[in-house]
Amino acid sequence: MTAKFESNSLTHPMSLICPLCRDALLPAGKSYRCGKGHSFDLAKEGYLSLLHGRQKGDGRGDSKAMMLARDRVHRAGVFDPLLQALSALRFDPPLRSVLELGCGEGFFLGHVARAHQVPVSYGLDLSVDAVKLAARTQRQSLILRADLLTGLPFADASLDLVQSIFAPRPLAEIRRVLRPGGHALFIYPQADHWHELRAFLPLAGIGEEKLQAAGLAGFVPVSEEAVVTPRELTHDLLTDLVEMSPSIHRLERDGVPWREQLPARLTATLSVRVMLCRKP
Ligand SMILES: C[S@@+](CC[C@H](N)C(=O)[O-])C[C@H]1O[C@@H](n2cnc3c(N)ncnc32)[C@H](O)[C@@H]1O
Repeated sequence: MTAKFESNSLTHPMSLICPLCRDALLPAGKSYRCGKGHSFDLAKEGYLSLLHGRQKGDGRGDSKAMMLARDRVHRAGVFDPLLQALSALRFDPPLRSVLELGCGEGFFLGHVARAHQVPVSYGLDLSVDAVKLAARTQRQSLILRADLLTGLPFADASLDLVQSIFAPRPLAEIRRVLRPGGHALFIYPQADHWHELRAFLPLAGIGEEKLQAAGLAGFVPVSEEAVVTPRELTHDLLTDLVEMSPSIHRLERDGVPWREQLPARLTATLSVRVMLCRKP
């Protein structure tokens, strides 16, 4: 079954489910409704908020300042080597749908959708500033405001690819919503990510995440690649990298004059791991 989503030009297969009763969620004018009468409005910016009850008005997720800093870093091409790695992934059969969890302003979601010509794409984030920006810039995608830790608003076995890039990974839910043979893509920082920057500021350490066999029970590893490459960073970009990181909260709370401690220029190492797995 397919239906037209009004605020973008693509046809979305109906894999969305109501977060309250798990019935299919269907477009109805400027809302989405389920058969039991639960209704969720499209915001004027074009995203669909699936927050309900006490979740509403919850300010969690990245702040507007973090979002704008990340946007500037992305526009400057700092993560271009990662875009190349994403373009080089191969999917057979071709992807018909992708969901990014914690999509932020949708930079990587848009890239994957374009590079792999994925006709149906969804971005999900809790931050209101993220979904506003993503809905504005990723017109090809349906952007959802939801908490990925409280169950994903998608039907069982309804998606071809679920990606989590520098974001939380609810593995059991990802497995549930992937179709058999569907892919999960996880990208996360390695311990030496931007380590040169740590010589200047007391940034939070990176607990390198081990997504090894045990943690990935139920998935079959397909490929694993480390993208490790030096990047030339100006003072402005270094400032943005700090501002988009979780360390910013502690630096500001402690009143650390952190901007002044950054050098005018620095060559620093982008170091991330790209892991692709498949649901059997
Ligand atoms: C480090 S950012 C990564 C954004 C994007 N994937 C990128 O790499 O450009 C992590 C994102 O996850 C979102 N996030 C964190 N916890 C979340 C949750 N429980 N539900 C939905 N989104 C969440 C944040 O709001 C933020 O936009």
